[in-house]
Amino acid sequence: MPGIAILGAQFGDEGKGKITDFYADRADITVRFQGGANAGHTIYRNEQKFVFHLLPVGIMTSHTTNVIACGCVVDIITLHEEILAARQLGIQISPDNLKISARATVVLPAYIEADIKSETESQNRIGTTRRGIGPAYSAKASREAFQMAEIADPQKFLEKYLTMLKASSLYQDALGVEAHWSSYREPLYNASTFLAPYISDTSSFLKDAHKFGRSIIFEGAQGALLDNDLGTYPHVTSSTTVSSGVAIGAGIAPSYLNGSIGVAKAYVTRVGAGPFLTLMDEESHQVVQTEGKEFGATTGRPRLCGWLDLPALKYAIAINDYDGIIITKVDVLDTLSEIKVCTKYEPVDTSAKFFESDYPLDLTKFKPGYKTLQGWTTSTRDARSISELPLKLREYLAYIEKYIEVPIYGISTGPNTSSYIERRAIFKPLPLIRRFERVSFTTDLGHCSQLNSMET
Ligand code: IMP
Repeated sequence: MPGIAILGAQFGDEGKGKITDFYADRADITVRFQGGANAGHTIYRNEQKFVFHLLPVGIMTSHTTNVIACGCVVDIITLHEEILAARQLGIQISPDNLKISARATVVLPAYIEADIKSETESQNRIGTTRRGIGPAYSAKASREAFQMAEIADPQKFLEKYLTMLKASSLYQDALGVEAHWSSYREPLYNASTFLAPYISDTSSFLKDAHKFGRSIIFEGAQGALLDNDLGTYPHVTSSTTVSSGVAIGAGIAPSYLNGSIGVAKAYVTRVGAGPFLTLMDEESHQVVQTEGKEFGATTGRPRLCGWLDLPALKYAIAINDYDGIIITKVDVLDTLSEIKVCTKYEPVDTSAKFFESDYPLDLTKFKPGYKTLQGWTTSTRDARSISELPLKLREYLAYIEKYIEVPIYGISTGPNTSSYIERRAIFKPLPLIRRFERVSFTTDLGHCSQLNSMET
């Protein structure tokens, strides 16, 4: 059975959460494999809104097991709060359906303060979500970070954190160690005590699950153009958001990933600093920002709105090798009489060169070349079949598909999970029995795989 990644093909906020929610019903397991509480996955079910930052979206589906894997950075105070809030909304969460990798990195409050400080003081702001993501991944790369296994002994974890705070001038915020300690000691203790039972060897769990034919969704956060290596560096996030990052982030072999799907809006948005070539005219921007509710789910910041950037999408396809694309939020364009699509980048000066898989390293040297298509000016909200879509929208989709040379697998027509037109199934529905039977293997710390037990 498949392990399929559902990934952002633009600058994040493409609506991956909703697509993951749609397919979680057909999966046994969903996995977050990178990023942390910088993500904001918004789900609407029957008009009720749910926003997740760290919890995999599959947590909404009763039969799935959900994994926060080793490539994630976990703000334990936020995760503790998120679990309690989700329970308030009636979502059941326990160590049976949520597993956190013992190898995931802990986002310490000091990292969040360092992130805020650098965003406030730096001349070259990235426009981060201020969730401590960059400092946490930096600490991991510098081999100074805490792994989640360490919070299993809350007292020891706190002692070690205090020692680190005292020793490192880097992490001393303006208020000093004492003030920091009195603000965070108790929430850290409570969060680590609460989360300790959720920590396990998730790599072995996923390996066994794959071996036993379970279907797995690897749920991306952020998007291809925010990838730390291949995105619009330095205006990127600090993790690997593309398909090649799934294996290392989930702690599995690359062969466990059987395919990947890119999710792209019918237009583009971006939050934070960084180049944005296809910014809409003021009038269209106003319509799209309002209709699309284009305000960050994590930070509330307004998102810049731009016309669909096909060269960028093609680049995302090239670096991810997506099997198919899902186009979201087509209904947001319903009232526009004209819709532009960027089909080429035109150099603004002679020093502009294309390289790196046909995507420019310095986007400021290019301007977009557009094709203008007629809008469909009729409501497509909540359409459930291709035949319900107006001809002009079908032409728009056909134009995109021809340009990108990858099939469109699905079209999302509204915020509700059910407002989705499936052209090609990513997952087949699960056999009925599997919907009542959650995956359970022994995954406690120290779990031995079958191979190890054969050796002993
Ligand atoms: P960080 O991931 O908080 O360090 O932010 C780095 C960049 O990625 C900033 O431009 C953020 O706005 C952007 N970013 C991070 N997470 C998301 C997301 O979930 N959606 C959209 N942009 C994001």
